[in-house]
Amino acid sequence: MRGYIAPSILASNFLRLEEEVIMLNESEADWFHLDIMDGRFVPPISFGHDIVRAINQVALKPLDVHLMIANPENFIEDFRTAGADNITVHWGACPHLHRVISHIKDVGARAGVAINPHIPIHFLADIINHVDQVCLMSVNPGYGGQKFIEHTYVKLAELKKLIVDSESNARIEVDGGVSIQNAAKLFSLGADILVAGTSVFHSNDPKESIKTIRDAAKPYVPKPAAQLS
Ligand code: DX5
Ligand code: ZN
Repeated sequence: MRGYIAPSILASNFLRLEEEVIMLNESEADWFHLDIMDGRFVPPISFGHDIVRAINQVALKPLDVHLMIANPENFIEDFRTAGADNITVHWGACPHLHRVISHIKDVGARAGVAINPHIPIHFLADIINHVDQVCLMSVNPGYGGQKFIEHTYVKLAELKKLIVDSESNARIEVDGGVSIQNAAKLFSLGADILVAGTSVFHSNDPKESIKTIRDAAKPYVPKPAAQLS
């Protein structure tokens, strides 16, 4: 799997949520990224599993649920039952991370771990062979529309090396401040999935923005000399 895009519903128009979901169904988006915030692990509250269940009634693609919540172990069944295909928990929210990852797998979901920008990649060394995906936060979680943190490029390369060296099957998701401008570089450094909220839903043509970001994963093919001007 290479070159997925997971638009974040957080930046959509909640008054027209069904239309937004249908738009994503018709687009080249691969997953729906659903940001759950509890006012404790991160300052804002977004939405809970009842909204995930409602989205699941219309969505035709996997639901990638990003839990930015304290004590995520108490809510795994709720989100799985609501339709979550992937469940990602935060490294910093789980003193018993291995147990929570096992729990997510036991309920039949793909298990992910997310790390905030200040957390070094080597903190993942003993969990990398147990997770299906790592969500590398390229902003401090809690809000859409933030500026991409440039140090993410260094961490992405380190994470890719850790995964290769560990012979892990984990996929890399980058979340926060992703745009048409940085997508190609992120894919080329090893990102498998890019989450994009503002750059999709606040653009003039969300479907075209999705396609452009997804196309950034295609290998660069130099133009034949005859076409160069
Ligand atoms: C940040 C969330 C992100 C956010 C991305 O806390 O985890 O998924 O919605 O939004 P943009 O693409 O606007 O940075
Ligand atoms: Zn997210």
